[in-house]
Amino acid sequence: MNPEQWTDVDTYICDLLVPSDPVLDDALADSATAGLPAISVTPAQGKLLALLVQLCSARTILEVGTLGGYSTIWLARAMLAQGRAAGGRLVTLESDPRHAEVARANLARAGLSDVVDVRLGAALDTLPELAAEGVGPFDLSFIDADKANNAAYFNWALRLSRPGSVIVVDNVVRGGTVTDADSTDPATSGTRRLIEVMAAEPRVDATVIQTVGTKGYDGFALAVVNHQEGGHTPVS
Ligand code: SAH
Ligand code: DHB
Ligand code: MG
Repeated sequence: MNPEQWTDVDTYICDLLVPSDPVLDDALADSATAGLPAISVTPAQGKLLALLVQLCSARTILEVGTLGGYSTIWLARAMLAQGRAAGGRLVTLESDPRHAEVARANLARAGLSDVVDVRLGAALDTLPELAAEGVGPFDLSFIDADKANNAAYFNWALRLSRPGSVIVVDNVVRGGTVTDADSTDPATSGTRRLIEVMAAEPRVDATVIQTVGTKGYDGFALAVVNHQEGGHTPVS
């Protein structure tokens, strides 16, 4: 375990494959100035999100947990890179009004205000609203908010999906604490519940990939909604 080396390798990777971009750099800088926590996805992870959008040709994207909109910009840009004329919509859910305000400014500077809908409110309130409005299905969902509610967010993302949809969940390894069955940390127990729900859910195929880098030791879950019999009936 050598976090310094993880950072060096991340820097090496990004120098070659993830060129710095003024809009993304400014989004991080203004988020920091506004006092937002430095917990956005890393540039290499943002690029991975963009590649996943391309891989599944996502035209509709759901994000749970906006912060300053850094991951949102990665996702929305990749969505639009597939052809602006074909349309595309990203809905991102954020409970903190200050975070939403910073995100809206960052998205405006990125020229993305017309395709990104930043919805203010606790995601467990705004997700049922989306369902009631008939928004979706989403081709890709990125879950990255409070970890205690991860299982519920996953169930909502599944409900708002279609066969072939992709669901990504950030921060599911948490320095390895995910294996601590006796953890009293709600983020850890919430993440364990998420993985158990994924495992028991016949409508998805899923895995977890451990990662190291500038944000330390963590990982993400990746699920694809399959074509199982029984359709995609609501789950609570
Ligand atoms: N996806 C962002 C980082 C998100 S950090 C990026 O990579 O750039 C997690 C965000 O989830 C924070 O902004 C936090 O305010 C928000 N959040 C926490 N609890 C929430 C809830 N119940 N509903 C919606 N958002 C929530
Ligand atoms: C935290 C949240 C995140 O989404 C993340 O990627 C890293 C840390 C946190 O709440 O500490
Ligand atoms: Mg995260």
